[in-house]
Amino acid sequence: MGDNKSPSGSPKENPDNDSDANPLARDDSSLETIVRKFQDSMSLKKHKFWETQPVGQFKEVGDSSLPEGPIEPPTPLSEVKQEPYNLPSAYEWTTCDMDSEETCLEVYNLLKNNYVEDDENMFRFNYSKEFLRWALRPPSYFRSWHIGVRAKSSKKLVAFITGVPARIRVRDEVVRMAEINFLCVHKKLRSKRLAPVMIKEVTRRVHLENIWQAAYTAGVVLPTPITTCQYWHRSLNPKKLIDVGFSRLGARMTMSRTIKLYKLPDSPVTPGFRKMELRDVPAVTRLLRNYLSQFVVAPDFDEDDVEHWLLPSENVVDSYLVESPETHEITDFCSFYTLPSSILGNQTYSTLKAAYSYYNVSTKTPLLQLMNDALIVAKQKDYDVFNALDVMQNESFLKELKFGPGDGQLHYYLYNYRIRRELKPSELGLVLL
Ligand SMILES: CC(C)(COP(=O)(O)OP(=O)(O)OC[C@H]1O[C@@H](n2cnc3c(N)ncnc32)[C@H](O)[C@@H]1OP(=O)(O)O)[C@@H](O)C(=O)NCCC(=O)NCCS
Repeated sequence: MGDNKSPSGSPKENPDNDSDANPLARDDSSLETIVRKFQDSMSLKKHKFWETQPVGQFKEVGDSSLPEGPIEPPTPLSEVKQEPYNLPSAYEWTTCDMDSEETCLEVYNLLKNNYVEDDENMFRFNYSKEFLRWALRPPSYFRSWHIGVRAKSSKKLVAFITGVPARIRVRDEVVRMAEINFLCVHKKLRSKRLAPVMIKEVTRRVHLENIWQAAYTAGVVLPTPITTCQYWHRSLNPKKLIDVGFSRLGARMTMSRTIKLYKLPDSPVTPGFRKMELRDVPAVTRLLRNYLSQFVVAPDFDEDDVEHWLLPSENVVDSYLVESPETHEITDFCSFYTLPSSILGNQTYSTLKAAYSYYNVSTKTPLLQLMNDALIVAKQKDYDVFNALDVMQNESFLKELKFGPGDGQLHYYLYNYRIRRELKPSELGLVLL
């Protein structure tokens, strides 16, 4: 079959995979678009905001004399600006209390209508309220890092940005960081330079907690990615994916051959494969810590983190493990999170149910077999597609398990931390939501 769509940093198969696809056939041939795409690809674009920030700059790429580590030292907390940055006068800051059903619904609706879309505006991420609560309230989170902007007159929520604390290891150094996510500006307020103000404000609030580094991802190229990853998509419900334009029927393929190609067994094949439970937290933590130690950049998870991020939570995160039927040892682990996308303008279907590969560890069961079991349970649970980045050891199973490449790239960034050279996706052990 053809290719999949990925929202700029996620959902869909790649139409340019087809040798006969004309990249200029879509309405993207304006001179401005061509120039932008060229500048993007050559990293020549001016970044008025990002050029002022402590991030790796394009002009430094390849300069191996620069030291790895923090770009700027921390400043005394008393020198951190105490008042919020100025917003245009019609707008005001708000801290979003995600415990509040009402606020959570406002955030949900802002993102549902204005968050990330694929390049052709066919799909838009539709993070659930439960997912947002989970993503934003990990151990020791700061409520002050859940930042909204409201219109003063109507009190309508029009922009959002968040941070959550994390310990991230870069080579031998465990660094306290903020993971920045859910940057969103209402469609009607775009291109007014609101995003830089939001980024500066979250940075200020992170600094107030004596944290000086951050990690984030984006579908756009900014100064300077530590690595660039690609999404891969494994069809579970090929007919629906083709009907909604997520993927295309491959050359010389019929629908019935395609359905047969993606068929999976009814239940997992690995003996001892079962859902993770609370009692498994210590064993999973050991397994995961040991596994992640091989990557250049990876989270430093303790048991509290594992309980929060990996204990199954309905329609949010699913985790399975292999318990040896003989020794009862926990030998393997796999997980995925649930992130549906709204299907924009389809008469028949309104949502695409997508599973995203999260953290997977194999010590006894071959990774290929473990991930095939993950596909099987995702199919049982009625997901339409299973997505995975080419991070960690994922390349070893993508092609064989019939994943196809997506059309979006996901760039990973660190704020105020320089990496000597660009990493390969397989050197990255971090999945951000
Ligand atoms: C991303 C978004 C908030 C940017 O807002 P905008 O109104 O388009 O852009 P603004 O005029 O406010 O700001 C432009 C600046 O923000 C930067 N910027 C844009 N998207 C960014 C991102 N995802 N992460 C960090 N910086 C970003 C731009 O590079 C530019 O800075 P530069 O001149 O140094 O290059 C907005 O387009 C949006 O909500 N998009 C949909 C959701 C989305 O893609 N969110 C980001 C997910 S990673």
